[in-house]
Amino acid sequence: MNATKHEVLQSNYLETSYFHDNVDSSEYIIEVKNLEKYFNGFKAVDGINFKIRKGELFSLLGPNGAGKSTTIRMLTTVLKPTSGDARISEYSLKREKNNIKSLIGVCPQENIVFDALTAEDNVEFVGRMHGMSADDVKERSKVLLEKMNIAGRKKPAKTFSGGMKRRLSLAMSLVHQPEILFLDEPTAGLDPQARRIVWDFIHELKTTGMTIILTTHDMAEADALSDHLAIIDHGKVIACGTVDDIKRSSDNGNVIEISFFSREELIKAKQQLEHVDSVKQIICGENNKLTISFAGGAKGFKRDILNRLESFKTLHFREDSLEEIFLKLTGRELREN
Ligand SMILES: Nc1ncnc2c1ncn2[C@@H]1O[C@H](COP(=O)(O)OP(=O)(O)OP(=O)(O)O)[C@@H](O)[C@H]1O
Ligand SMILES: [Mg+2]
Repeated sequence: MNATKHEVLQSNYLETSYFHDNVDSSEYIIEVKNLEKYFNGFKAVDGINFKIRKGELFSLLGPNGAGKSTTIRMLTTVLKPTSGDARISEYSLKREKNNIKSLIGVCPQENIVFDALTAEDNVEFVGRMHGMSADDVKERSKVLLEKMNIAGRKKPAKTFSGGMKRRLSLAMSLVHQPEILFLDEPTAGLDPQARRIVWDFIHELKTTGMTIILTTHDMAEADALSDHLAIIDHGKVIACGTVDDIKRSSDNGNVIEISFFSREELIKAKQQLEHVDSVKQIICGENNKLTISFAGGAKGFKRDILNRLESFKTLHFREDSLEEIFLKLTGRELREN
């Protein structure tokens, strides 16, 4: 992909992103404005902007080193931004970070678990730090540890597997029932069963109206959980919106293959489709087959293609995956370092 096409593609995504819609800004619980972070002259976060609606799950998706954790660490007041600001609820990150601390729960990428304490004592310790009463904290700890499938263990956390520590960290971030929850790679290192427990739990949290921000480099996770997501690369947001928005604004990646009973049928269909805006390319193949590059997404498919076909033998539609979109935007695989 050459640089010009790359830039055009990126600007398509940003134009269709929800920065430019007409939603009243009071709907947003978080607004990130030109946030930047330098480490000794190296720009880890490069002037990023995004907005998060109250009660939604917003993912930051990007490869290793993209700047996800640095962004989360700034928003959770652990790291001071080099420049820029964010509004979190009614508070400015720059000027009122102490007010922000009590609103948020944080599960950092590296587990912060006290090895000498039991799971219960770990959760209770965090609860007491947040000023909860002994009774409240006991009750809450029991519920959370049961949900995380690590209740009733009397041994200290140093005997826990990595996956158990991860789930304990998650419970610790939730003890004070925060309004806003930050999860940095919540399922990293979990086996599929534990990952499912965490996904189900995150779905359940969403029903309580909690706003959740998570980072991941797992496409399936971003796809399964996000209301909106920002794709981050080299410290910049390169696409933002719902998974569907991002797929819909994909350049020409959706592929439709249609085969016909006769050449006449094929020619007729080609004439019907070649002037449709969302059809980017039509290739006539052997065995009366048309291969179409289509930019309309699954929703536009019926309107733009299916309704225009009088007859066909077989039809196969494939939407671009997030993985393919990421590849087009960055020219790199997501898992590459
Ligand atoms: N404290 C630090 N000092 C110097 N460089 C740092 C520091 N923290 C992060 N970086 C660098 O900033 C860049 C972004 O790092 P960050 O941890 O935010 O990426 P990430 O998207 O969370 O990656 P991963 O998926 O591996 O967790 C990386 O190049 C990293 O090496
Ligand atoms: Mg990280």
